[in-house]
Amino acid sequence: MGTEQAAQWNGPGGAWVRLQDVLDAMYVPLEELLVDRVADAAPGVPSVVDVGCGTGATTLALARRLGPGTAVTGVDVSEPMLTAARERVSRAGLEVPFVAADAQRHDFGPGPRVVASRFGVMFFDDPPAAFANLRAAASPGGALRAIVWRAPGENPFMTAAPEAAAGLLDVPVPVPGAPGQFGLADGERTATMLRGAGWGEVTVEPVDRECTFPASELEAYLTLMGPVGRALAGQDEATRARVADRVRPALAPFVRGDEVAFTAACWLIAARA
Ligand SMILES: C[S@@+](CC[C@H](N)C(=O)[O-])C[C@H]1O[C@@H](n2cnc3c(N)ncnc32)[C@H](O)[C@@H]1O
Repeated sequence: MGTEQAAQWNGPGGAWVRLQDVLDAMYVPLEELLVDRVADAAPGVPSVVDVGCGTGATTLALARRLGPGTAVTGVDVSEPMLTAARERVSRAGLEVPFVAADAQRHDFGPGPRVVASRFGVMFFDDPPAAFANLRAAASPGGALRAIVWRAPGENPFMTAAPEAAAGLLDVPVPVPGAPGQFGLADGERTATMLRGAGWGEVTVEPVDRECTFPASELEAYLTLMGPVGRALAGQDEATRARVADRVRPALAPFVRGDEVAFTAACWLIAARA
């Protein structure tokens, strides 16, 4: 994978690990959606791989839902995330293997599988090759079920902080289509790319889910997560305070009493191998 992406996910900041509980709770509606859709695809398919599994919330939810008859595995490039994932399943008293690998090129061995992902498949530097590899992992007769973000313009909660911080910090503007959060934001392009990578019965369906987290975590969220969190790493206290002061009002419209609430505008991708 690209060195920028590898560095991002293996970086010392480990925002996803530090904010694991907040992110877990916030993305439960998307976890439930993914688990339901994987369960629909799973009958007759003996294994499921959670690609870009991160700290393993969805991997564990899939293992719980599908039960011992289905082998669930998590794959990720980030050692800190995988360590957190292993701790999570061990706390839950389950045995779920986690593999450190780049899903773009990893040889998953003979299928069929359901390839599942929540927000883990937008970072590939060569999506057609990566999704051809995932199709080989799913074949014969497996499936793909993945949730990815729609365009930045449809996800104002994700863009408010970088836009507000732009004059103070060198924050990269998200480029739809480039590897990153919005890498598969163009649904039609994604469908065409998947067909080209050999997938059949491709559907790319818009799904909107309200996500919430405690307002008491907003400060941690805005200083650790996303492009602003990355740009703040290593900045001095004065800069951090200036940026937080600028970003806080930009996120205020999303605060509802003691909660932060926003709509996650996503695509639910489904396909057959
Ligand atoms: C936004 S996080 C999502 C984590 C998890 N799926 C969740 O929803 O909680 C993206 C994850 O994808 C992983 N990732 C990015 N590129 C990858 C690749 N080429 N192969 C495997 N994992 C990858 C990152 O390390 C990170 O853990």
